[in-house]
Amino acid sequence: MFIALCLAAYLLGSVSFAILLSRRHGSTDPRLHGSGNPGATNMLRLHGKRLALFTLLGDLAKGLLPVACAAWFGLPLQWQAWVGFCAVAGHLFPVFHRFRGGKGVATTAGMLLALYPPAALLALSVWLLAFYLTRTSSLASLSALPVTLPLLAWQLPQSMLPMSILTLLLVWAHRTNLKLLWAGTERKL
Ligand code: G3P
Repeated sequence: MFIALCLAAYLLGSVSFAILLSRRHGSTDPRLHGSGNPGATNMLRLHGKRLALFTLLGDLAKGLLPVACAAWFGLPLQWQAWVGFCAVAGHLFPVFHRFRGGKGVATTAGMLLALYPPAALLALSVWLLAFYLTRTSSLASLSALPVTLPLLAWQLPQSMLPMSILTLLLVWAHRTNLKLLWAGTERKL
C-alpha cells in the first residue's frame, strides 16, 4: 500500500496545472516566460488572478490528497510524510513534462496541511508577512520554509528526514531566485 501511494503521489504531483491551464487558454508553456516557473506566482504574472488561483489550488491539492489518503489508510506519520515527499518530487521533476517542473512551495504547503495543519498555518503566516513587507514571492517562500522546520521537529519528529530533504530541494529549486535576490534584481509582484 505504501509503495502504491508513493507512486500515485508522484504521478499526481507530476501533473502541472500551470502548464495544462496555459495550454487550455491557448498560451505557450509558462516555463518559457516570466520567471520560467510553472507555478501560481508566474501564472499571476502571465495570466492574471483567476488562473493563478486555479494553479495554486491544484498544486495545494496535489500535496494534500495523497497525504490525506495515506492517513485514511492508517499509515504511520513517517510514511505519510514520505508519501507527501513523493508528491512534491513529482511537482519538481514531473514525468509528464520532461522532468522540468516547478518550485514545490504550494504542493509542500498542501502536504503540511494534511500532515500537521499548525505547521501549514505558521508557514502561511510567515509567507504573508514576508510578502507584505517585500512584495517578493520567492523571498516569502524562502522565509517560510526554515521557520516551519523547527515546529515540525518539535511536534512531528517522525517527519524530519523527508522534510529536511524537501527543504534542501526547495532551496535548490529557488537557486535562480537566490541569485536574483542577491543581485537585487528579483521580480516583485
Ligand atoms: O512559489 C514560487 C515562488 O517562490 C517563486 O516564484 O515565479 O517568482 O520564481 P517565481
